[in-house]
Amino acid sequence: DLPFTESYKIKMVEPIRKSTRKEREEWIKNAKFNLFNLRSEQVFIDLLTDSGTGAMSDRQWGAIMTGDESYAGSSSYYHLKETIKDVTGFEYFLPSHQGRAAENVLFSSLIKAGDLIPGNAHFDTTKGHIEFRHADAIDCTIKEAYDTTKEHPFKGNVDLDKLEHVLISNPKERIPMIIVTVTCNTAGGQPVSMQNLKDVYQMAKKYGITVIFDAARFAENAYFIKMREHGYRNKSIRDIVQEMFSYSDGMTMSSKKDGLVNIGGFMAFRKKEMVEKCSMHTIMYEGYITYGGMSGRDMNALAVGLQEVVEFDYLDTRIQQVKYLGDKLIEYGVPVQQPIGGHAVFVDAKRFLPHVPKDEYIAQTLAVELYLEGGVRGVEIGTLLADRDPHSRENRYPALELVRLAIPRRVYTNNHMHYVAAILKNVYDRRDQLKHGFSITHEAPILRHFTVELERV
Ligand code: F0G
Repeated sequence: DLPFTESYKIKMVEPIRKSTRKEREEWIKNAKFNLFNLRSEQVFIDLLTDSGTGAMSDRQWGAIMTGDESYAGSSSYYHLKETIKDVTGFEYFLPSHQGRAAENVLFSSLIKAGDLIPGNAHFDTTKGHIEFRHADAIDCTIKEAYDTTKEHPFKGNVDLDKLEHVLISNPKERIPMIIVTVTCNTAGGQPVSMQNLKDVYQMAKKYGITVIFDAARFAENAYFIKMREHGYRNKSIRDIVQEMFSYSDGMTMSSKKDGLVNIGGFMAFRKKEMVEKCSMHTIMYEGYITYGGMSGRDMNALAVGLQEVVEFDYLDTRIQQVKYLGDKLIEYGVPVQQPIGGHAVFVDAKRFLPHVPKDEYIAQTLAVELYLEGGVRGVEIGTLLADRDPHSRENRYPALELVRLAIPRRVYTNNHMHYVAAILKNVYDRRDQLKHGFSITHEAPILRHFTVELERV
């Protein structure tokens, strides 16, 4: 077997700097133990997110130079429109400055107080935008998703019984849409099978409900379908992507992931009436409908990125690198969500730190330790992120306490991944000494994890 190799070579580099433990102790204390408050120079390997942190290709940088900055009818808009049609099959689209902006526009147009939006585990901004409108996001993910030790090829799948229960027991007028997130970030970057996408769509049509994909990582989802689902091994990623989108009425997109750009988003739809419904809010919040918060050059680079992301070799490099890190951690005995997700490795903090009490923020405690150990920045996906219940204002304790190590696209080498694994091993070896976490000294009423301030218990 030949070793795994990257499907690109490097044309430009950006230096990064190691720091001492003493420096990091000072920095994290000043940051109130919130990793979002660190300066990037204080981080050695930054796995906070795979969002907007990737490297663009030379072809994308070339497209930047030919971007058209016309306010209306820019050629870059049409380049992007044709690409979206080509890749997803959706005829109609509206640009936005990032994924949550697309959610804001779509939900402002379609969601009202008291509505229910079922789906597989919604991403935090999606849920935030739903709850902000006094509507409820209903998690219908299959139960296997919440057992990190259970191997299941498609842990992002929607539980059809749970979904049907919601659809049967509520009036259609209260369910403006079902949102299926591909891959499901909250469940661990886990894919949704083609069969499940098809079943959800057929059920939705039976009840007359719209299906929207939160498609931030649609190409990574297609890769898993190709590799894991019966009957798809010989199909191209492009064909799989086309079939996936045939089971939805539209999509919101954070282009910062599978758009392979640093900023941007969009909505795309099969029917013109959806664009008509969303145009007013696009103009009010984002900008005129042919740029919606994006510069022409950025739309041009996105159009190229959407073509590159559906190349098999690109996806193979990408997903294999994430798996490389995951496999190393498994080798070291570190508890991780299995199978390994598409964009990140999710460390199971409850199994990693069994002594830290749940009201002392287990996953955050681990994330801070990894930073202290080696300047590695991951992110908490646990009680801080889960926020308080909007009705009772009590902490919501999620089924899983995870630290996500998200891998930026085309940025780090496998040596970097090896280093990260070694840092986790060091912390794992001294896990029995870690008995306490943090308490909150300050928090915002919604999406608190970004600005929360903590102190050691
Ligand atoms: N949907 C999913 C599944 C996401 O993962 C994100 C962002 C969004 C929507 C919102 O998009 O950031 O462009 O506004 N996820 C990032 C992350 C922030 O770190 O996982 P955005």
